[in-house]
Amino acid sequence: MNNAKIIQMAKIADPRGNLSFVQGVKDIPFEIKRVYWIYDVPGGESRGSHAHKELQQLIIAASGSFRVTLDDGKEKQTYYLNKPYEGLYVPSGVWRDLGDFSSGAVCMVLASDYYNADEYIRDYDEFLNYRKSVNE
Ligand code: TYD
Repeated sequence: MNNAKIIQMAKIADPRGNLSFVQGVKDIPFEIKRVYWIYDVPGGESRGSHAHKELQQLIIAASGSFRVTLDDGKEKQTYYLNKPYEGLYVPSGVWRDLGDFSSGAVCMVLASDYYNADEYIRDYDEFLNYRKSVNE
């Protein structure tokens, strides 16, 4: 599966409460230009179901847990995120689907660029064709 991987972030354990952090370029392979988060997801709902041509992201379960399924057009890999000090690095050109959100889950996403609707691929067949064209 491409270069997708779980990245362990710092965890500063403290009896007052733990602290984690991530630094652009130093800890993840991109500069952070945008942060967004998904929350209040009703049971049984899913998010994502698209790919990005250029965008790279780090997906963090800031609270609770959820599933992330990645698909590079050839193989699929499913990850279960449930630790606030772990992030899933999602490189560009990968279809993602998020689901199985626990009650109160917060999905925090660090992104390599500003929001740009033109850079999304929302149709799965178009995604497969795109992958074929970039692999040729
Ligand atoms: P989208 O990325 O399509 O989420 P999903 O694929 O899970 O449905 O985003 C949903 C809506 O939010 C869409 O109308 C675009 C808007 N949006 C922004 O305006 N800025 C952002 O940074 C993001 C991620 C989404």
